[in-house]
Amino acid sequence: MNIRNVLFYNKKGGQGKTTLATNYAKKIKANFYTNDENNFTDEVFSIKINMIPHNQQIEEVEIDDEKSNVFDFGGFTDDRVRIVAGFCDVCVVPIFYQGAIDIRAAQETMQTLKSENKNSIFVINNTEKELIQDLHNHLSKMSRTFVIPHSLFLQENNKSIFDIYKNATGLQQYTIKNKVMPYFDELFNYLGV
Ligand SMILES: Nc1ncnc2c1ncn2[C@@H]1O[C@H](COP(=O)(O)OP(=O)(O)O)[C@@H](O)[C@H]1O
Ligand SMILES: [Mg+2]
Repeated sequence: MNIRNVLFYNKKGGQGKTTLATNYAKKIKANFYTNDENNFTDEVFSIKINMIPHNQQIEEVEIDDEKSNVFDFGGFTDDRVRIVAGFCDVCVVPIFYQGAIDIRAAQETMQTLKSENKNSIFVINNTEKELIQDLHNHLSKMSRTFVIPHSLFLQENNKSIFDIYKNATGLQQYTIKNKVMPYFDELFNYLGV
């Protein structure tokens, strides 16, 4: 596998950054970095968390360039994100669409990232089925757009979809394999696996 550096960022919280970032980091066995000091203890999703404290310069963070690195940058404005965006292969802006405010935040976030990295994409995440198509038409004018549907399996805290799949049986396992995984596969293939 090639080395991949991928940033997940939206200046608004609750959009799915951590859900997508942790699953991807697990999938490609990447190092996981976050600036979100509230969210985490030492481990979530059985991944080791490398915390980037708010007062640390990105240049001072030890980043392993022999391995892939996934950055989950929390739901607030952090100017250091521009530097990270600049050296990542892809930047991902998840959006959980519940109203106009979510579109605005996602578009503004995309503008910020695009000025550093042309390869920045949207992921419509967790959004009601009926709203996805229109939103997709709208966002894809600005940037490439993927979809991860709402799924009860993803609401389960602190477990990756791969671990949930491993422990599931029967209909649950069938559902994950056929109704959840294909969306992750499409996104992760684009990000690089
Ligand atoms: N596709 C999804 N389906 C169902 N629940 C989801 C989905 N994506 C995220 N969630 C849930 O929504 C909440 C917020 O997601 P999270 O990844 O923590 O957002 P962020 O990191 O952007 O603040 C979490 O409880 C998470 O489990
Ligand atoms: Mg988060």
